[in-house]
Amino acid sequence: MPEIAFVNGAFMSLSEARVSVEDRGFQFGDGVYELLRVYAGAPFHLAEHLERLEQSARAIGIPLSYTRDRWTAVISEAILRSGFPEAKVYIQVTRGVAPRDHVPTGPVTPTVVVTVRAIAPPASELCANGADVVTVPDLRWARCNIKSIGLLANVLAKQQAQERGAFEALFVRDGYVLEGATSNVLIVKNRCLVTPPEGPLLLSGVTRKVVLGLAQEAGVAVKEQPVTEAELYAADEVFLTGTTIEALPVARVNGRPIGAGPPGPVTKLVMARFREARG
Ligand code: PDD
Repeated sequence: MPEIAFVNGAFMSLSEARVSVEDRGFQFGDGVYELLRVYAGAPFHLAEHLERLEQSARAIGIPLSYTRDRWTAVISEAILRSGFPEAKVYIQVTRGVAPRDHVPTGPVTPTVVVTVRAIAPPASELCANGADVVTVPDLRWARCNIKSIGLLANVLAKQQAQERGAFEALFVRDGYVLEGATSNVLIVKNRCLVTPPEGPLLLSGVTRKVVLGLAQEAGVAVKEQPVTEAELYAADEVFLTGTTIEALPVARVNGRPIGAGPPGPVTKLVMARFREARG
């Protein structure tokens, strides 16, 4: 079955997909993206991802001519063409192709790319035993709510995590834990679910929002408030959320075990509810 790409209106196999070296995404990281999950052939929370894509594009002044219906049609066709029932779909929109200059000198047409690849659920061993995470200083800019393709700080953080034998790096700024390099972070203290509030210093994760809703429905108290690094260590439970990892328990932070060992009762409940919700 083929990995599929859609580039500026045309479908092709991913291996044939090309963009120009003059693309501002390549030259400047001047673009935004989305990643969404497909379960049993159907995109999960597509509307929320499209809304966030529109917000990201608007925030950096990239005009998006695609309507929600057009995105939905393109994504549905790409999924069908791939034949992958379990897939991840990247949408990438850059400002477009123009001679290299920080400010483009003429009108530019955005480059639109959609790709579909197969994906497996997170490793069952990781879900059962929990992940190791490390903390790193947050060296990113101050508009982390924009899902920018400029991911250098995230790449370096993730690389550091790997070098330290961990699955994820959590960004810490001024003593506050904000999010992971590719995930949001939630803690449980005295059966209350706490996660840093939305704002310019973290990405408003779609999975985070789904999980907060599921937890509330299940009667778990939820607070969106700042979390210090000390609170992270002292938590009863810690877990991560993200499109590819769903809800993933954390076993250790910087080598220090969390709570009574993962997954704790609230994490377990959330994982079970999430599995039901995704179908
Ligand atoms: N990233 N925070 C950051 C910095 C992220 O990159 C992601 C997801 C999340 C979680 O958001 P969501 O639940 O909407 O996936 C939070 C994906 C996995 C990526 O960049 O590949």
